Amino acid sequence: MIVMGIESSCDETGVGIVRWLGDGRCELLADEVASSVDQHARYGGVVPEIASRAHLEAMVPTMTRALTAAGIDKPDAIAVTIGPGLAGALLVGVAAAKAYAAAWGVPFYAINHLGGHVAVDTIEHGPMPPCVALLVSGGHTHLLHVEGLGRKPIVELGTTVDDAAGEAFDKVARLLDLGFPGGPALDRLAQRGERDAIVFPRGMTGPRDARHDFSFSGLKTAVARFVEAKQAAGEPIPVADIAAGFQESVADVLTMKAVRAAQDVGVGTLVLGGGATANSRIRSLAEERCGAAGLTLRVPSPRLCTDNGVMIAALGAHLIAGGAQPSRLTSATDPGLPV
Ligand code: KG4
Ligand code: ZN
Repeated sequence: MIVMGIESSCDETGVGIVRWLGDGRCELLADEVASSVDQHARYGGVVPEIASRAHLEAMVPTMTRALTAAGIDKPDAIAVTIGPGLAGALLVGVAAAKAYAAAWGVPFYAINHLGGHVAVDTIEHGPMPPCVALLVSGGHTHLLHVEGLGRKPIVELGTTVDDAAGEAFDKVARLLDLGFPGGPALDRLAQRGERDAIVFPRGMTGPRDARHDFSFSGLKTAVARFVEAKQAAGEPIPVADIAAGFQESVADVLTMKAVRAAQDVGVGTLVLGGGATANSRIRSLAEERCGAAGLTLRVPSPRLCTDNGVMIAALGAHLIAGGAQPSRLTSATDPGLPV
């Protein structure tokens, strides 16, 4: 069975093609991504109208490139992100998926983007054991309990009550004049700073925060106040130390709560996903803490952590193998789709 996955929830037009090998394994046949990120940079964030227009222009060429790379004329099934994401952007991928499914006479599957970020890990690491997944991207921060990928619903253990972690990276990067998207630039700058020169707050890590939720807006405000105080005093702004201290706070909170969640639900594996898990400190601290807690850590390559079509194809293949029925061609997009 060969599944095509289409992703258009934000600023990446992704088309991936995988072959289901059975027993929780997928083989990657094609991974084509066209990004509109450069068109958003001058606005300091993703502009929904620009993203939708870019998807419209890129969708068919990206599908064609993926089919050529996979060496096939058509897949056996089409899976597409139906939410969560930007309303107009989602519509482009879903309309394309429906049209091609109807024209090719193949089944159509509506896929949850968040589950895709989890499923993509199976491409490189094989069948997924019961695990906790930590998803960190520009739009999402979630701790998920995955018991049987494609067979049992994914359960949300916690999410952010305000800003997503990647969003906090982008906002602090903007404050430090690092451009957009700021996460990678902030990561590089932090390498030159001291992690504990400035200790920023760790939101929702107190004993009363039993649920596995996150909060990053207080941290963002603390960084802004620190910069303002330096400016008011006419002192130089220690940007590298700020970046390192901020990054340490985010990485500390994310990895501490992820390990705690895995221990609470009694699984032996932590999976990372989402664009912000490319962050060097989140990766190294996750390795350190999983090692200390006796947990196996699985992290997809950076290319598969950011939005792409392979993740949607991988979850589609797992669902189909798990007995899911095709979605109706009348299925609507759902920008606020929960896990
Ligand atoms: O998953 P993704 O490509 O798109 C969304 O669904 O949001 O994630 C993009 C996010 C951006 O906020 C970007 O700043 C952040 O991931 N990011 C990073 C790093 N690389 C990407 N954040 C921190 N450190 C990085 N190295
Ligand atoms: Zn994403």
